[in-house]
Amino acid sequence: MNMRIEVAKPYLNEQEQRAVADVVAGGWVSQGPKVAEFENIFAAYVGARYAIATTSCTTALHAALVVSGIGPGDEVIVPSLSFIATANSVVHSGAIPVFADIDPETCNIDVSKIEALITMKTKAIMPVHQVGLPADLDSIQLIAQKHNLMVIEDAACAIGSEYKGKRIGGYGNTACFSFHPRKIITTGEGGIITTDSPEMAERLRRFRHHGMSVSDLERHTSHEIIIESYPELGYNYRMTDMQAALGIVQMQKLAEILKKRLDIADRYNKAFSEISSLRVPRIPEYALHNYQSYWLEVLDKSRVSRNMLMQRLLEQGISSRRGIMAIHREPCYIGYKAKLPETERITDKTIILPLYPSMTDDEVRHVIECVCNTVC
Ligand SMILES: Cc1ncc(COP(=O)(O)O)c(C=O)c1O
Repeated sequence: MNMRIEVAKPYLNEQEQRAVADVVAGGWVSQGPKVAEFENIFAAYVGARYAIATTSCTTALHAALVVSGIGPGDEVIVPSLSFIATANSVVHSGAIPVFADIDPETCNIDVSKIEALITMKTKAIMPVHQVGLPADLDSIQLIAQKHNLMVIEDAACAIGSEYKGKRIGGYGNTACFSFHPRKIITTGEGGIITTDSPEMAERLRRFRHHGMSVSDLERHTSHEIIIESYPELGYNYRMTDMQAALGIVQMQKLAEILKKRLDIADRYNKAFSEISSLRVPRIPEYALHNYQSYWLEVLDKSRVSRNMLMQRLLEQGISSRRGIMAIHREPCYIGYKAKLPETERITDKTIILPLYPSMTDDEVRHVIECVCNTVC
């Protein structure tokens, strides 16, 4: 079959094109009314009181850490099995990431390993809802409360996922999402922070706007002159209105996107759970998974290794990616010692398969056939 199947594709059409063009025509192109509208829509969707848009999830995480008072000398417990931005955001805040191992069944932080890592310097736990599958928030919260720690959720991939019937972002912690094109919805680049705390929301809004005491939107709509001040150091983490306009359209399509992803993942789960040389992810009872990505573990009894499977798929027109990376093994984290056997096994043995809403039945069938024929 002569096909080229990408690993991910954003779900965009002329609606997004029109929305962006309208903003350009209107002239207010950064941190204006569309950003405010997008924030309101997002907060209402996840069930949080506030949402603060940023330039990316990495900057969202950085802002959330700094505004939470985390900095030099502090430690933050994170899984190593994650995209490198999780740990980078901690380092950028001046704190030290302390790597925890994962539960190989879910690829999320192994809650039973957290307490042993807590020291006098620990300030926060940063669970990652890996590829959109919610981490066990109740158990993490219990540990956090016992040791007086903050929980900042890396929810980069988790838009639309649910923990015990509540959408991620609506649990009550600070949570950070990504709108990179490989995520469930996209704004090109972009991120957002959700919180229920009015003080936190206000400080985050200032932080992303150079620490300025007043927003451009407030100043523009005020009938009295406002002279701004800069009570705290901040950054430029502002989202543009073109991005927000794109995001508003994407939010309208979110239910459709999630349904299509779930349908494809169901077909994958059915097909691959019958193959004894493959292991499919386990979805805990508490979780509704958005399948931001779909991974498989290639077991030792497979006819080919994980890398060979990726190569054979590529030869048949199918892009794949290695499983989630292990941050502590990257050269820039070489000084951070950690013994993480499950993380290392999973990163070496897992593969991420194509999954995107516009994937056709033929494309899904082709992926299933090629994977099964290669490993059996
Ligand atoms: C778990 C996780 N955290 C953080 C990020 C960073 O997101 P962004 O690219 O929006 O900065 C990603 C992106 O891939 C991610 O997967």
